[in-house]
Amino acid sequence: MRALRYDRYGPPEVLEVVDLDEPVPREGELKIRVRAASLNPLDAKIRAGHLRLLPMVDRPPRGNGVDFAGEIVGTGGGVSGYFPGMRVFGSLSPFRRAGSFAEYVCAAPDRIAATPDAVTDAVAATLPIAAGTAVQAFTVDAPLERGMTALVIGAAGGVGHFAVQFAKHVGAHVTATCGADNLDFVRSLRADVVLDYTADDGIRPGARYDAVFDVAGRSSWRTVREVLAPEGIYLNTNGSASAVLATMAGTLTSRLAGRQRVVGLMLRGGAPAWQRLAALAQARSLVPHVRATIGLAGVAEAQRAIERGHGRGKVVVDPAL
Ligand SMILES: NC(=O)c1ccc[n+]([C@@H]2O[C@H](COP(=O)([O-])OP(=O)(O)OC[C@H]3O[C@@H](n4cnc5c(N)ncnc54)[C@H](OP(=O)(O)O)[C@@H]3O)[C@@H](O)[C@H]2O)c1
Repeated sequence: MRALRYDRYGPPEVLEVVDLDEPVPREGELKIRVRAASLNPLDAKIRAGHLRLLPMVDRPPRGNGVDFAGEIVGTGGGVSGYFPGMRVFGSLSPFRRAGSFAEYVCAAPDRIAATPDAVTDAVAATLPIAAGTAVQAFTVDAPLERGMTALVIGAAGGVGHFAVQFAKHVGAHVTATCGADNLDFVRSLRADVVLDYTADDGIRPGARYDAVFDVAGRSSWRTVREVLAPEGIYLNTNGSASAVLATMAGTLTSRLAGRQRVVGLMLRGGAPAWQRLAALAQARSLVPHVRATIGLAGVAEAQRAIERGHGRGKVVVDPAL
């Protein structure tokens, strides 16, 4: 099969399209023909070696990519309720050697969910990490209810554009920040107030939010505490080592200073979370924006763009292109 591979950590140029043996499912696993995969910043961070010190991360040579959608073509036995031809989507473990930028992957049922008929493979492949993070943010970490107020920082990207849609779905009032080129796009997501972050970051006198979700990692609890409600929650995505440290400091100090809370979000995905995303996509409560569909050979260039830190919606990979 054709797949992306790299033999050493490094820049996007280390990615190569190679021919590999098709993976063989182990007992309890399914073999899935990948019809679509999607890019996440995580793929580029692992490829660059940012997680190399974590002992559970398999070293190169390894594949790249985690999110995928496609159809079941085989089983290693010991799996019930799944059959060849069934359409599924999910996310591979980021720690393991196999990647989803490939023609076939193997996954256990606890990492996948059925793809509804009304949802295309391209749409399903955009959901797990990005929409999973957005939905977890506003259901588990900082639950939003009708009438509450939220600030989403970095609203145009993969996570952000789903976060705005989900916050509106539950009836919250949403202020969203993005770059000047993305203002109309974020307005189209039904955000109530859309701000160009170079002119107004939403953190200003008079503003009051029940939740601040900094997807882009541009703030800290210290910089937003004045605009958080007394019991408000500040969330970020732990996108860099400095964000993790600032979040840890904020978690401690916020507890001493009052009732505001600080959360460094860690996605807890898996079958139940993906089933919920499937239902939201089927109901069109979450509609991904796919800015490009590329082949395996285009992933390196697309990751270069992701590393520049700007982007709109999601990029889909079709391994057949
Ligand atoms: N902890 C977890 O479990 C978890 C899960 C998912 C994602 N993440 C992390 O979350 C981060 C975002 O992921 P993503 O998929 O949304 O990335 P993405 O699609 O690349 O989007 C990044 C966004 O950041 C925005 N941005 C850049 N500078 C900004 C600024 N100064 N103010 C406000 N926004 C700014 C960009 O907006 P413009 O293009 O408009 O400039 C862009 O849309 C990544 O670091 C990712 O690794 C963590």
